[in-house]
This record gives sequence, structure tokens and C-alpha cells, in this order.
Amino acid sequence: MRITVVGRGNVGGGLAQLWAKAGHEVTGLGRDGGDASGADVLVVAVPGPAITEALAGVAGLAGQVTIDACNLYGPRDDAFPSLSHQVKSIVGGPTAKSFSTNFAAVYDRIEAQSVRPSNLFAADPAAREATEQLIRDAGYDPVFVGDLDSGARLLEDGSGLTRALAGQLGPFFYRYGSPGKL
Ligand SMILES: NC(=O)c1ccc[n+]([C@@H]2O[C@H](COP(=O)([O-])OP(=O)(O)OC[C@H]3O[C@@H](n4cnc5c(N)ncnc54)[C@H](OP(=O)(O)O)[C@@H]3O)[C@@H](O)[C@H]2O)c1
Repeated sequence: MRITVVGRGNVGGGLAQLWAKAGHEVTGLGRDGGDASGADVLVVAVPGPAITEALAGVAGLAGQVTIDACNLYGPRDDAFPSLSHQVKSIVGGPTAKSFSTNFAAVYDRIEAQSVRPSNLFAADPAAREATEQLIRDAGYDPVFVGDLDSGARLLEDGSGLTRALAGQLGPFFYRYGSPGKL
């Protein structure tokens, strides 16, 4: 896939490396912006409050499948039910929320785990296949939590639990599975 990642930090830069290693063609865009018109998939990995400003610098946004990885630790813009909906209002394509509950600090240790870690995601139906593929290509097993309307905010609101666990464990992996499949 041709993937344009907006944000070159821990998450954006880290995922770009994992996907490039898996054979994808990845372009990373920073504050200087750029052109995403050739992208099959757009990934947004900037601080939650910077979403609108970051995407304003990107030309060629035209309904691409989009994965939002952002979290927010301050007040929310109540105009949107979730950050993913805010991203979708700008890009206009089928949208997913993924990678928001997985720690970038341990991307380089995914491969060394004895079982594949899980990655919780929510997605519009038309974004689901590409998102699952990119979750797998980053080394995780996808676990669907619901469509964007029901699942994105659920994942964002769960960030407090993630942080509480990180306070005990440091950056961690997690795995969800049906009995017999762990
Ligand atoms: N770190 C994690 O483990 C983790 C896990 C899950 C989700 N998240 C979420 O993922 C997002 C990115 O986190 P991160 O850890 O990768 O952050 P980060 O390392 O600070 O990187 C953020 C990136 O966003 C860019 N950026 C900031 N403001 C911008 C703007 N106004 N316009 C364009 N680009 C802008 C930064 O550019 P500069 O380099 O120029 O500053 C940087 O490349 C956040 O929403 C975070 O909550 C993080």
C-alpha cells in the first residue's frame, strides 16, 4: 500500500518504519505538510489538539481510507464525538481508530514476544480491511471493538486505564482473545 503518515514522532515515525519493513511505500509528513494525493491510506499521528492544524498543511486529502492514532489528554472539542470523527470531517473517507492503545516505545520489541500482541481498533466498514492488514503488518493481531460511531470514543475514553496500567507496568503489550485462542 502507499501510506502517508501525518506526524513523524514516536507513533508516526515508528509505524512508518514497521510498515516500510513489511514492504509498504511510506511517506512521512511533518509540520511542513505535504501532498497526500497518491496515498491509498492516510494515517494521523499528531497530538489531539493539533489535528486540524496538521491536516490543514496536507494537500490532496480526498476521501482516502484514514487511520487515526491520536489521543487527547485535555479538554475535548464537543463538536465531534471523537478525534476520529474530527479527522473524518476533514479527510472525508472511511475512517478507523487504531494504534491509540499501543505503546510506541515498545514497537521494536513486538517481534520478540512469544504471542502476537493485540491491537484494539474501531472502523467504518470500508476502512476495516486495510486497517486490519496494517495492524498485522505492524506485528499485532487486530481486535475489533465496533464501528467508528460506537468504538472510537470508547477507545479514546479508555486512555485513562492505559495510563494507569502504564504507571504499574511501564509501556506494555496486551492480548485479548476468546478461550482457546490465546
Ligand atoms: N507515544 C505513544 O506511545 C502513543 C501511543 C498511542 C497513541 N499516541 C498518540 O499518538 C499521537 C502522536 O503521539 P507521539 O508520541 O508520536 O507524539 P510525538 O512524538 O510528540 O510526535 C508528534 C508529531 O506530531 C507533529 N506535530 C505536532 N503539532 C503539529 C502541527 N500543528 N502540525 C503538524 N504536525 C504537528 C510533531 O511534529 P514535530 O516533530 O515538528 O514536533 C511530531 O512529528 C498523539 O495523539 C498521542 O496521544 C501516542
